[in-house]
Amino acid sequence: MATIEDIMTLSPVIPVLVIHDPAHARPVAEALVAGGLRTLEVTLRTESALDVIAEMAKVEGAVVGAGTVLNRADLDASVRAGARFIVSPGLTTPLAHAARDADVPLLPGIANAGDIMRGLDLGLTRFKFFPAEASGGIAALKALSAPFGQVRFCPTGGIRQDTAANWLALPSVLCVGGSWLVPSGTPDLADITARARAAAALAA
Ligand code: 3PG
Repeated sequence: MATIEDIMTLSPVIPVLVIHDPAHARPVAEALVAGGLRTLEVTLRTESALDVIAEMAKVEGAVVGAGTVLNRADLDASVRAGARFIVSPGLTTPLAHAARDADVPLLPGIANAGDIMRGLDLGLTRFKFFPAEASGGIAALKALSAPFGQVRFCPTGGIRQDTAANWLALPSVLCVGGSWLVPSGTPDLADITARARAAAALAA
């Protein structure tokens, strides 16, 4: 079983995916993996998200997780569909316990020192900083990192190709997440691979 740190350090960027049509799942995952991004977060924001996870999980080299996981039921359904890690926008004790019970790596969202301290109490030290830009951006994360030397982050929310490097330059940042890799609409697979290649070339 991989740790959340293993998942976060596979690629500098985790694509955040909102895929409506399960028929797009495999080609999109293959296009991302071809560009060098293996860690894929499928958000539970569409009716077909669990089918999309199941399809993407079949793609060689892809490490597929579920995002927008809000509770134990979401988590259990995601794991059954093949999710190998879990991302949530915030941190709740029931969700942390569900991840522990299912023995699945969890990357919960935090946006302030109190969230981080609750996470530490639950044995967690790796967090999604969300929503990264709206929560104060790089200045806020630098300030938040100072009292928590052992903590590492995946900032997500408002980050794009041209700003990702600034985030990745922070010592407390292991990777960033973002939806810019796969724009909405009918997927342009060559464009997705080009975006993935550019993102994969960013230094973590
Ligand atoms: C998420 O769920 O992580 C965010 O919606 C991704 O944010 P972005 O669309 O600004 O990249």
